[in-house]
Amino acid sequence: MAAAAVCHPPCPPSAVGKRCSAMVLGGRQAEPGVGRGRQAGAGRAGYRGVNTVRLILLYLHLVGFALLLGGSIAQYVSGRLKINLAMLWGALIVVVTGLGLAAPLRGGGDREPDPAKLVVKAVLGLAIGAMVFFSRKREAVNRGHFLAIIALTLVNAAVAVFWR
Ligand code: HEM
Repeated sequence: MAAAAVCHPPCPPSAVGKRCSAMVLGGRQAEPGVGRGRQAGAGRAGYRGVNTVRLILLYLHLVGFALLLGGSIAQYVSGRLKINLAMLWGALIVVVTGLGLAAPLRGGGDREPDPAKLVVKAVLGLAIGAMVFFSRKREAVNRGHFLAIIALTLVNAAVAVFWR
């Protein structure tokens, strides 16, 4: 049975029912170049490769997020406010993979995240990275410093999820 086709993001009313470049077929977003002959086939293979890279980066980004937030909260509840290795690696991983994810990997145009969102995420991510990296050798940091790392991490995840 043919998959139902809907547009994502929604098309203007005049385009409803017509084939567009951003169709989702059976819940899967159509790839640029679908259905336009042999050259389009090559474009589709390239897009699939780039999309795989994006998904691997996103996966590693989420691993970094888990290390940073999990490491901070575990350390906080232990009562000793020291930057641990999980926080250090987590901060490094989110910044490196985040900068990779900010590259145009989604086929361009409206598919890419808002540049303003990327700037906000980069500024917050670099601030967190600096707060973790430059205090990594201290036996203990201020409670405010430690709580700010946790709060900014949660804010940056909220920016990623809610700013669409
Ligand atoms: C502590 C720092 C960070 C945290 C906690 C964080 C958190 C997250 C989370 C949870 C997601 C998944 C959102 C989703 O798939 O719905 C995400 C996606 C993303 N993050 Fe980060 N991130 C951080 C740093 C960065 C940095 C420094 C950049 C660089 C600009 C960045 C760029 C991105 C991009 C481009 C995406 C994909 C967004 C999309 O496709 O709409 N992130 N981030």
